[in-house]
Amino acid sequence: MDDRQTLDEEERRGLEIVREKLGAVLESNNYPQYLRGTIDEMMSAERMTFDLMGFKHGTDKASVMIKNGRLILAHDYLRQYELFFAPFRYDEFSLIEFGCWKGESLRLWKEYFPRAQIYGVDIMKSTLDYAEERISVVLGDATRFETFSTFKQMLNGVRPSVIIDDASHAWGDQRRSFELFWRMLAPGGLYIVEDLECGAEGAYPDWPPEVLDSRPFFNYIQDMCMLLRWSQTSRAFLSKDSAFNQLPELTRKIMITLDACYFVPGAVIMRKNPLPPPWEVER
Ligand SMILES: C[S@@+](CC[C@H](N)C(=O)[O-])C[C@H]1O[C@@H](n2cnc3c(N)ncnc32)[C@H](O)[C@@H]1O
Repeated sequence: MDDRQTLDEEERRGLEIVREKLGAVLESNNYPQYLRGTIDEMMSAERMTFDLMGFKHGTDKASVMIKNGRLILAHDYLRQYELFFAPFRYDEFSLIEFGCWKGESLRLWKEYFPRAQIYGVDIMKSTLDYAEERISVVLGDATRFETFSTFKQMLNGVRPSVIIDDASHAWGDQRRSFELFWRMLAPGGLYIVEDLECGAEGAYPDWPPEVLDSRPFFNYIQDMCMLLRWSQTSRAFLSKDSAFNQLPELTRKIMITLDACYFVPGAVIMRKNPLPPPWEVER
């Protein structure tokens, strides 16, 4: 049996699972009326979309999920991600996700990317149980340099092509992890930060103040996008621009390698420039 036949078979079985799960919801009548059309559409799907696959695995990244037996709306990120992920779905590469919780998204990445190595990191010891073939879990805090070092050692020179931050969602944590891990991302790779709306100071009343940050990550990244209005040719002169040179070195390094930034509801997808930075082009 070749790869394609195996996938078709998996897809067929996947759609059956989706229908079984939805069938149970319909039978118990445990869903809001406005989701009736969505249920019908999902039940009649003829192809396993990334969103349906996410629903099958139970992750809240799908458009809907079942919580305590009830069908509810979820983050709805996967319809967006599929547009970005589909071109390299069958490539061999590494993906890191911060925040594993019950392992649902780790299993989703594994199924969607059949040749990828999946790495999860979480502060909760129980997440170590989700390691399996092609899934490794690191116990650690994604905002800490030690965790970055652990990954550097583990990956042994391999740069991840996808990094997803679905950890604490505190704005300060999102920034710290981004500033640590952006440099590790492969050229042309994608760095995604989820749940941009929920990290406000005060959103987590019991958390220590150093974890929180009054500045939304949304605004932080918006500033980083400043250079996106510069064309590639004019970027080549940046090394001589005094305002740019006054920025901290790390900020300059991130800005100059940021190729594109896509905001989708609740999340941001940032792509690293596959080309070398302009000052190298200039030489
Ligand atoms: C939203 S859940 C992850 C859900 C999972 N990605 C999914 O879609 O199935 C958030 C997880 O992040 C973990 N977490 C919180 N702060 C963290 C940090 N600083 N570093 C790593 N993991 C963290 C929590 O323990 C929790 O398991």
